[in-house]
Amino acid sequence: MLTFSIKQGNIAAAETDCIVVNLFAGVTTPGGATGAVDQALDGAIRRLIAGGDFTGEAGTSALLYTQGALPAPRVLVVGLGPAAEFDLAGVRRAGAEAAKRLAGIKGVTRFATIVHGAGIGGLDAAAAARTLTEGVRLALYQAPQYRREEKAASITSCTLVEFSPEKLDAIEQGVVQGEIVADAVCDARDWVSEPGNVLYPAAFARRVEARITDTGLKMTVLGEEELRELGMNIFLAVSAGSEREAQLLVLEHAPAGTEDDAPLVLVGKGVTFDTGGISLKPGAEMWRMKSDMGGAAAVMAALEAVARLDVPKRVIGVAPCVENMPDGRAYRPGDIFTGINGKTTEIISTDAEGRLALADALGYVARYEPRAVVDLATLTGAVSIALGQGMAAGLFANDDALRDGLLAAAEQSSERLWPLPLYDEYKESIKSDMAEVKNGAGRFSGVGSSAKFLEHFTEGYPWAHLDIAGMAWASSSPNPFTPAGAVGFGVRLLIDFVNAY
Ligand code: BES
Ligand code: MN
Ligand code: ZN
Repeated sequence: MLTFSIKQGNIAAAETDCIVVNLFAGVTTPGGATGAVDQALDGAIRRLIAGGDFTGEAGTSALLYTQGALPAPRVLVVGLGPAAEFDLAGVRRAGAEAAKRLAGIKGVTRFATIVHGAGIGGLDAAAAARTLTEGVRLALYQAPQYRREEKAASITSCTLVEFSPEKLDAIEQGVVQGEIVADAVCDARDWVSEPGNVLYPAAFARRVEARITDTGLKMTVLGEEELRELGMNIFLAVSAGSEREAQLLVLEHAPAGTEDDAPLVLVGKGVTFDTGGISLKPGAEMWRMKSDMGGAAAVMAALEAVARLDVPKRVIGVAPCVENMPDGRAYRPGDIFTGINGKTTEIISTDAEGRLALADALGYVARYEPRAVVDLATLTGAVSIALGQGMAAGLFANDDALRDGLLAAAEQSSERLWPLPLYDEYKESIKSDMAEVKNGAGRFSGVGSSAKFLEHFTEGYPWAHLDIAGMAWASSSPNPFTPAGAVGFGVRLLIDFVNAY
């Protein structure tokens, strides 16, 4: 367990295993807290800079031993890069770099840090504290472990030290928010990490329920009987080959006075394991398809955070959760199904199952008369071919304001989105001989035609689709605050989006 605390005072006096200060690139005589520490160390930081050992470049740090000159035995100086380019993303990175470096030192279990950016950086103190907390907590994330010997948590305490008493309240508030946001991202990472035999639809529902009991969120879980009564046969088709029951998870955040407002609705693809079904995937790397519920994880976790942050808006999260398996009862290529709103689809590939689960979910959410609907889905391999693996999520929208709102949230959260077109000509590729649409497409229209398929099932509301297939799982660490594996992509993006839109 990692706990955060706040302290007023001079960081040089902190009694802890390591104190963390910072340096902008190009500075030769540090000021502020770093200057005070340098003076106490008789100019040791200035000598490091003069000797060329440390330049303040972002992503670098220097470790010094205080030899009794300070109560703490170690000082870590983290580079912030050029002062003119420094922003909240830099705070997150700096916090993460420090946490990662200290986690590698056995003697360090506690550290104290200044709030990067809240002093000479000129950033809002609450925002800086929130982002620093996120960076530290997310960098130290460990996936669930299935080993007999327990892996000890290396760092157990982080203290944010601030000299100015008037900034303490803002910093306190920022830390609380940062913990809520980081906890939600870590929940999403946990759910994505868990293997398909552990986290199947009903188990996922229980996991979510356990995390939201004290939030005021209203949770509804629909099972297959209810889904059948609703006519969600396109979604149910995906589940036919699985022994595990499909579930539609619904979380509603409606603070007093907003109950009748048109809600923002978030929808996440929740395929807890995707074998491809009868259109079976190749075996190599198939294990990664345990991350095919990354959209649902992001949506459920974002709702959890939105409720804990008391966002004064009505927000609803919906996750169609299902396992895609080949079996004697499985659906097949050529099958035709009618969904919740009477629309029909022909199945070309049972491996294009995500758009089927979403089709009925997009029909289901029409009942809320939403202000806007945003879906997140690990939908196509093609989005990674188009944009590059881990580069950005593809963004499709039928509404300019919604697209701009999402792009603004992407900028703020450093969770990249890149706009892609919803050309009418994509319709050609999803034309079926017998049904309204088909779920497969030619080789040259993979990501666009998948979005066009989804658009067919939307019902008049402003809608955006984020294809996060390249973002949910990272084979190597994509940034200092994200270890390799489950990324939790979209949680911070959705929180920022819901807050601002
Ligand atoms: N879950 C996959 C997409 C995916 C691929 C996610 C790689 C993450 C990494 C999706 O269900 C799928 O199988 N899509 C097919 C669609 C095709 C059959 C039209 C694809 O992209 O190959
Ligand atoms: Mn698939
Ligand atoms: Zn899938």
